[in-house]
Amino acid sequence: MYTKISGTGSALPENRVTNLDFERLVDTTDEWITARTGISERRISSGENTSDFAARAAANALSSAGIGPLDVDLVIAATVSPDSFTPTVSCQVQKALGLAGATCFDLWAGCTGFIFALMTADSLIRSGAFSHALVIGAEVLSKLVDWTDRGTCVLFGDGAGAVVLSQSPNPGVLAHFTGSDGTRGSVLCIDGIPLANPWTADQAPSPPHSVIRMDGQEVFKFAVTAMQQSIRRVCELAGIDLDDVPYIIPHQANNRIIESVAGRMKIPRSRFYTNLDRRGNTSAASIPIALDEMNRAGVLKPQMPLVLVGFGGGLTWGASMIRWIPSSREGS
Ligand code: UT7
Repeated sequence: MYTKISGTGSALPENRVTNLDFERLVDTTDEWITARTGISERRISSGENTSDFAARAAANALSSAGIGPLDVDLVIAATVSPDSFTPTVSCQVQKALGLAGATCFDLWAGCTGFIFALMTADSLIRSGAFSHALVIGAEVLSKLVDWTDRGTCVLFGDGAGAVVLSQSPNPGVLAHFTGSDGTRGSVLCIDGIPLANPWTADQAPSPPHSVIRMDGQEVFKFAVTAMQQSIRRVCELAGIDLDDVPYIIPHQANNRIIESVAGRMKIPRSRFYTNLDRRGNTSAASIPIALDEMNRAGVLKPQMPLVLVGFGGGLTWGASMIRWIPSSREGS
């Protein structure tokens, strides 16, 4: 038994925040942000939380796949910015969309979360335990940004992307390559709740508001190496020559990271799909949002091989090779 992506969806905040808006918030310029990152604007939530975007993206993916809520038997949401520790984002999506027959759980793997969630859903469907999975990447990172730190606050955006992964007689999802290195976790952190109970020295600290802390240059160097390794390895595992892959869909973090990978691997930059100029870095949501944009724009053709590749906090990294098999609703 195989799996395929049978539908895609995404959801973004209405609120568009430009680099000029940031000039009024911190000591920065449109020129610096554009030149150093490639980002011109991003969407920032002015009300909706992570599960709201996740539910909207999931509803769009279901309608793209042409299946109903009761057909879904698995929901995995990748996020580092859930509304609450419990209920999870996936359970909140279940409630919002009436996915009564689904098993739901969230998965944390930083910006690589969507790749890890896709790999997990792929394995669970191939095992025969499930038929149709919603795999979601959803973030409201604006909750976790230090709005006084110009080195990070200009980078991130909010939103969600989702795919429906379904059983298929033909192989649509071909291979995954993933890795992690917990010894280097300190270069990209969001603190959790400090340990405090009646037996610790500090019995009731006021929990500090968690924010993203990052050594940008270290993450940059890691990203360039991890993406190259992930792209190469997933091609080997899938038995597909990289020259035969028309599009690579990278985690949308920084245009210079993508240019550096393209240059080192001698891949034309035009084969890397990017939307970070308009979306910024939406962490676990960036790859499924990009995939949905490509699907809706008609860029994806039947049997087209695609590499999805990500990296992020943990540290974590990985890639998936898929072959595009349109749903019957989209023709073949
Ligand atoms: O999903 C994964 C998440 N993270 C990433 O992918 C991040 C990867 N890293 C990067 O994208 C880049 O390292 C950044 C965009 C974060 C920073 O770019 P950089 O070229 O590595 O800049 P830098 O950190 O070396 O800083 C250069 C200068 C510094 O000033 P001084 O010390 O040279 O005077 C910074 O203070 O740029 C300054 N700077 C800024 N200036 C204007 C940092 N942020 C800003 C800003 N506007 N927003």
